[in-house]
Amino acid sequence: MKSNPIRTWNDYAANWKVLRSIVHIEDRGVPETQRDDYLETLGDEWGDKPSVDQFVNDFLVPHCTDRAIAAEIGSGGGRIARRVRPLVEMLYCLDTEPAMLALCEKALAQVRGRSQFVQLGREFPSLPIESSSLDLVYSFDTMVHLHFRYVFGYLREAARVLRLGGTAVFHVATSDTPQGRAHLLQSLSDRTEPGTLGSFEYLGAAALLSCASSLGFVPERVVSGVPGNFYYERDCICSLRKVAEPAL
Ligand SMILES: C[S@@+](CC[C@H](N)C(=O)[O-])C[C@H]1O[C@@H](n2cnc3c(N)ncnc32)[C@H](O)[C@@H]1O
Repeated sequence: MKSNPIRTWNDYAANWKVLRSIVHIEDRGVPETQRDDYLETLGDEWGDKPSVDQFVNDFLVPHCTDRAIAAEIGSGGGRIARRVRPLVEMLYCLDTEPAMLALCEKALAQVRGRSQFVQLGREFPSLPIESSSLDLVYSFDTMVHLHFRYVFGYLREAARVLRLGGTAVFHVATSDTPQGRAHLLQSLSDRTEPGTLGSFEYLGAAALLSCASSLGFVPERVVSGVPGNFYYERDCICSLRKVAEPAL
């Protein structure tokens, strides 16, 4: 039996030129003849563009100003970063995978604004950013893949690097919603191993919010199980405002 040569996110990004013509596009409304135009950046194959635009407008745009400093944890090929960068003074694009960072930098080259592309360590959730220096830290479609310890570790780092009044937006997977449970059941049928490329860790709002509260955050908006948006219906997205310095 041939083993899959694409085992890591770095492999995925490094082989994007080839994968781009064969990856499954989740939005069934995209005809085969339009796939080339549709896949503007790595990541456009996941979910659908109206759902992504709605997430950016609902959760990120309200915190973007031309003086805001923002960071994306797990910026991938720049699917979200390309929408956010023109709206802020500076956007840190943070990812563990060098090939992802290279693609992100390429995708953002045509987009107005400033960025720093920073590789994170794979072993420990740590942000190489000064304390109390950011207005917005967000992560989309990345925490869904990470073990709870990592999610909590990144949330703790977000609490450190945000200034008081700043906002963290975290997107996690959950088994609380019917679509989330369907995803979990499918992963059992597919015999998905934890920690493999694309596997999910199901966390949910309760765990995220209790940890957030212990780190000095209050919830601003929580969306989960809301039909009409691919991600809102299946997953959980929380916007959290930092109101106190965490005891780290
Ligand atoms: C599914 S992609 C999402 C990328 C982008 N946010 C988007 O929505 O298109 C997940 C990204 O998380 C990155 N990643 C994986 N493990 C990570 C970790 N421990 N810390 C930060 N990023 C990680 C991967 O390299 C990949 O770029």
